[in-house]
Amino acid sequence: MKSGTFFVLFFILPVATEAGFWDIFDMFNKDDDLLSFNSKDLENDLRKSLFGQHIAVDTVLKAVSWFMRETDPPKALVLSIHGQTGVGKNYITKIIARNIYKLGLKSNHVHTFISGYHFPHEEMAEMYELQLRQWIHGNVSNFPRSMFIFDEMHPRLIDTIKPFLDYTDNIDGVSFNKAIFIFLSHTGEHIIGNVTLDFWRRGCNREEIQIQSEGMETQIFEYLFNDKNNGFWHSSLINQHLIDHYIPFLPLELKHVHQCVMAEMGHLNMTQDYDLAYKVAKDMPFFPEEEKVFAVKGCKTVRQKMVLYLKLQ
Ligand SMILES: *[C@@H]1O[C@H](CO)[C@@H](O)[C@H](O)[C@H]1NC(C)=O
Ligand SMILES: *[C@@H]1O[C@H](CO)[C@@H](O)[C@H](O)[C@H]1NC(C)=O
Ligand SMILES: *[C@@H]1O[C@H](CO)[C@@H](O)[C@H](O)[C@H]1NC(C)=O
Repeated sequence: MKSGTFFVLFFILPVATEAGFWDIFDMFNKDDDLLSFNSKDLENDLRKSLFGQHIAVDTVLKAVSWFMRETDPPKALVLSIHGQTGVGKNYITKIIARNIYKLGLKSNHVHTFISGYHFPHEEMAEMYELQLRQWIHGNVSNFPRSMFIFDEMHPRLIDTIKPFLDYTDNIDGVSFNKAIFIFLSHTGEHIIGNVTLDFWRRGCNREEIQIQSEGMETQIFEYLFNDKNNGFWHSSLINQHLIDHYIPFLPLELKHVHQCVMAEMGHLNMTQDYDLAYKVAKDMPFFPEEEKVFAVKGCKTVRQKMVLYLKLQ
């Protein structure tokens, strides 16, 4: 009997070490694991996939790369992304996620909350607060490198989240310092639009717009402070310096929408037709009334528009 066991061990051990026995054991978990992060890959992905957003590309590249490199960051990474519809706010979360997790946005470690969908009933706010606190705590305690995306954050819930964003060693034995929180919001879109339009009218190069240009960051702060719907929660975040980066997304011009159409043709495995793409882009609505410089819906609905130009096979 003893020698039998010995024989089995003798037989299995070399095989086990060779073939990564423990990998097979871990297989189900491993499928939804972290990628080994590479900032060059993130940079290429951002530059290739996101159009007309030089501030966002630079800021996200630096912020995420430094954060992923740090073995012991002092707090969670917190990004607040602002801009109008269709300019790439959701898309950049996808790019970040697919450079961190093998399954990208589909990873069980990425949690997206859409205010109107996940927290629809005002009278149930207390229940949502409790639930959200447990979810964040539970998920980060299982997997420290978790990511939470809030699309139009509900003002009431910010107090629930605030402790997780702060400089703390731990909350009930769990450290949140490896987690990533991203807020997406329309707040400030008019300020961003005005600054961008102003540059355009003066004939300046769009790429020269910086977050400090014409006090854009200060203006966004002030707007966040004073906006009746958002002021309360944002002001407490601003006062306590819990948000690491405010990232403005600029309105898109015709050439960027054209790039979106070309990319969309690629995704649909069509031959990329430069002139057709131009027609489709030109057909989107633009503002302001006189100059028609910026796309009202950004690149949103570009695909639907394009379908109208295609001949049925
Ligand atoms: C993690 O978050 C999800 C919601 O995204 C929730 O359904 C789940 O219960 C949470 N897990 C834990 C362990 O709290
Ligand atoms: C943007 O500019 C327009 C016209 O100059 C002005 O009416 C509007 O108040 C500005 N918006 C913001 C948020 O500054
Ligand atoms: C495009 O082609 C690739 C590779 O041939 C395929 O994996 C993908 O599903 C196709 N996409 C569409 C939208 O047809």
